[in-house]
Amino acid sequence: MARLIVEGGRPLQGSVEISGAKNSALAIIVAAALAEEGESILENIPQGSDIGTICLILRELGVKVWFDDVGRLHLRAEKLNKFQASYDLVRRMRASFYSAGLLLARMGQAEVPLPGGCAIGSRPVDFHIKGFTQLGAEISIEHGFMKAEAKELKGAQIYVNRASVGTTINLMIAASLAKGTTVLENAAKEPEVVDLAIFLNGMGGKVRGAGTDTIRIEGVSGLRGIEYSIIPDRIETGTFMFAAAITGGDVTLKSVVAEHVRVPIVKLEEAGVIIERKDNELRVRAPQRLKAIDVETMPYPGFPTDLQQPLVASLSVAEGTSVVRETIFDRFRYIDELRRMGADIKTERGTAIVRGVKQLTGAPVEITDLRAGAALTIAALAAEGRTDLYGVEILDRGYELFEEKLQNLGGRIYRKKTAEGRDLFAPRPSRK
Ligand code: EPZ
Repeated sequence: MARLIVEGGRPLQGSVEISGAKNSALAIIVAAALAEEGESILENIPQGSDIGTICLILRELGVKVWFDDVGRLHLRAEKLNKFQASYDLVRRMRASFYSAGLLLARMGQAEVPLPGGCAIGSRPVDFHIKGFTQLGAEISIEHGFMKAEAKELKGAQIYVNRASVGTTINLMIAASLAKGTTVLENAAKEPEVVDLAIFLNGMGGKVRGAGTDTIRIEGVSGLRGIEYSIIPDRIETGTFMFAAAITGGDVTLKSVVAEHVRVPIVKLEEAGVIIERKDNELRVRAPQRLKAIDVETMPYPGFPTDLQQPLVASLSVAEGTSVVRETIFDRFRYIDELRRMGADIKTERGTAIVRGVKQLTGAPVEITDLRAGAALTIAALAAEGRTDLYGVEILDRGYELFEEKLQNLGGRIYRKKTAEGRDLFAPRPSRK
């Protein structure tokens, strides 16, 4: 167990390279295992434990997955030969459920544990299951597993409830090798969905309309491995934009797609931040103090739920009262921790009323989920004094070299191992 120690109160300055998109990479790594021939070589895969988990799941299914010494991921899936994913791996993250779409497409059979509860509220997979059924799979739930079988998946017209990102991705994966055409209506429009579509088409798939709310997937008889580079992470991009904003900093973000963070840019500008775009760079210059703004989270292209936490952290020191409405998940648990740092925030049924205070103060705090961790870290960088962030393993799931990148921008942040009771015991010889 480890914690991050942050000495706050300094504006961040300098430049930072944005990594590949975690959520795109998770989908594309699974989709790469649809190929019965050839090797896929994936570039710009961010290092993080979620990526490690998806690779372990695929290995368990018989897929060869390895990283080369320049960080590219190689994948060969000719020998995919199992259809059961183990609970120990799948329970670690919801995106593991993409393995169900893959297994149905490749093996006609899937036994995948249902993801359990989650720190950001109830996150069922009923939409995914409904979609698999419409593609012709017979499904039962037994002993905590979804058991699905389909001699042959058949294209269908499917309405995606709540424009669910995960459902859209899982069904794109499953439908790619189905017989006939699948039409996803009310599909998610997130850049990660578009990235997956481009990748599938490169493999020989026939996916049209990604990025609009109707996606047509014409099933093909086989796909092959290709080389591909993952898009930059728009949530990491946004997180560093808010890190610059909350600390009154001046940060240039490199390797970004500004289009993917259009609404966060507009909102930051409304709060008084100056943002300049040049090629694939964004320079973010913050005023001494931000102005209050009102924001509502929405599916893409709206303001992303994954940036709601860094946004609220930043507004907690803005001038005036902001209102932030979260419409996607139940994602306000971290606000209790922000309050311990002196923030004045009231929450009421999905709405946070943020009364800006002049200054946060460092405190020991607990990270409850990935994006909450990012929010608490940037709050700590702006706060006066020292903050100890516990539960840092959660941050390691999805941010590549987070502390190093912040250190390079002048942030005083370092990692320390947390002492545990069991550390007191000397190793004993095992009893036979
Ligand atoms: C994806 O989650 C992302 N995860 C999330 O990022 C992101 O917050 C979310 O999309 C919204 O943008 C990955 O890409 C791996 P949804 P996902 O299905 O696919 C409900 C992060 O921190 N729903 O679009 O799970 C659901 O509860 C993560 O990187 C059902 O009720 O989100 C939510 O209210 C966190 N039944 C809404 O739909 C279902 O079967 C939209 O969720 C599926 C979803």
